[in-house]
Amino acid sequence: IKRVTTRTVQEMKIRGEKVSMLTAYDYSLATIVDDAGVDIILVGDSASNVMAGHETTLPITLDQMIYHAASVVRAAKRALVVVDLPFGSYQGNSKEALNSAIRIMKEAGAHAVKIEGGIEIAESVTRILAAGIPVMGHLGLTPQSIYKFGTYTVRAKEEAEAQKLREDAAKLQELGCFGVVLEKIPALLAEEVTESLSIPTIGIGAGQHCDGQVLVIHDMLGINKGFKPRFLRQYASLYDVMNDAIKNYVADVKSADFPNEKEQY
Ligand code: KIV
Ligand code: NA
Repeated sequence: IKRVTTRTVQEMKIRGEKVSMLTAYDYSLATIVDDAGVDIILVGDSASNVMAGHETTLPITLDQMIYHAASVVRAAKRALVVVDLPFGSYQGNSKEALNSAIRIMKEAGAHAVKIEGGIEIAESVTRILAAGIPVMGHLGLTPQSIYKFGTYTVRAKEEAEAQKLREDAAKLQELGCFGVVLEKIPALLAEEVTESLSIPTIGIGAGQHCDGQVLVIHDMLGINKGFKPRFLRQYASLYDVMNDAIKNYVADVKSADFPNEKEQY
């Protein structure tokens, strides 16, 4: 199998082939995602929510991200593995940002990092890229800034924020990012940014004109029962499938139906 690289996704944009991206945080799920042909596996800091049960992405640490990333890298035979720099691991200064990115590449064996923000993080992006580490940007609803936003609703509906996003996207491309995630912004703005850039845009709640799409795997598989925002298409209801299976197991144990003669030594 031929590995997807940052070049491959650039070529996809030129060909007009959409880029598929999904999150994964552990070996078993990442194996399924990779076997299914997903182009990019994102080890997102959404692990803080779906794996650790935190309310936001802020608490997850660099060490914890490296643990998740190393597990995913061991599973990914074809996909490009991109890993989020977690909150607090890059905002301080660009040398700290580079150190964090190096740890992710070295200790987890990742292929690229993703960082939230635009012009504010230009120095960090430059330094990381100078070390030969590919960087993906992330604009729009950047969940590490949730306490600044105060809400998870759509970003950049007002012209001032839309204009800032256009400038940030152009800047990230100019610095040398190989792609940029656009999260929860109007489809029209995402279309405009997508057309203005030569690097691929990967949307989540950013409409059909992005060059690719990303979802959190627990959301799209219906493992998170309650979470159903408008942008989410749910491809399975694994909560119900797993819940039924486990209830059957409990019932079989209680009734002494499991194990039977064939299931013992
Ligand atoms: O952490 C994450 O899952 C993400 C995607 C939603 C883009 O950053
Ligand atoms: Na993230």
